Amino acid sequence: MNIFRVFVLFLCYSATRAQTFAADNKIDSKELRCLVCEKSLQEITNEVKKFDPNKKVDVGGYRLDIDGNYKHKAVPQAKSELALSELIEGICDKMDNYIRAKWKENGTLTLLSMVSEDGMMNPDWSNVDIIQDDDLNKSLKYYCEGIMEEHEEDIIKLYQEEQSDVTKAFCFKQSKLCPPPTRREEL
Ligand SMILES: *[C@@H]1O[C@H](CO)[C@@H](O)[C@H](O)[C@H]1NC(C)=O
Ligand SMILES: *[C@@H]1O[C@H](CO)[C@@H](O)[C@H](O)[C@H]1NC(C)=O
Repeated sequence: MNIFRVFVLFLCYSATRAQTFAADNKIDSKELRCLVCEKSLQEITNEVKKFDPNKKVDVGGYRLDIDGNYKHKAVPQAKSELALSELIEGICDKMDNYIRAKWKENGTLTLLSMVSEDGMMNPDWSNVDIIQDDDLNKSLKYYCEGIMEEHEEDIIKLYQEEQSDVTKAFCFKQSKLCPPPTRREEL
């Protein structure tokens, strides 16, 4: 991130700061957990997409097939339990890039990524009110870590099964950390 971007970011922050304290600080922890679930699974999916499709990981000897034989087989990195597990272990650091905010339009809670991967500022800054909360600068990570610790194996399985939308399959269907889609807009 260059100096200019930092400066712009600061300006935006200053501009939103004035409204900050007007925003309702009471946050439903279920709602927050759902949002953290969605964002962290999206981050995992992004990273899985970066795996080299040609890179194979040997899983021979670790698994039994349905006939009870050892499988001396290599799987793509994106389906490797070890690779996925290592990825999940570090994923909650990504939450440092998110802040809690409410859409000005409808007051709905959201998590805004401050800077995109190419270092650009999120264009939605002007559409949200930032929520400030003293103990909260680490809590997105805390929620994320809670989810990953409890559900790591389930999440890995979903990637191994090549679910088309792991975020939906995990956050909405399997873990039910998010309310059923009927009560929300379709993703
Ligand atoms: C609130 O507004 C945002 C931004 O336009 C939109 O993405 C979101 O779906 C809206 N939420 C609801 C519940 O209407
Ligand atoms: C953010 O978290 C750190 C470490 O927990 C703490 O020292 C710091 O005071 C917090 N900052 C804010 C603004 O809450």
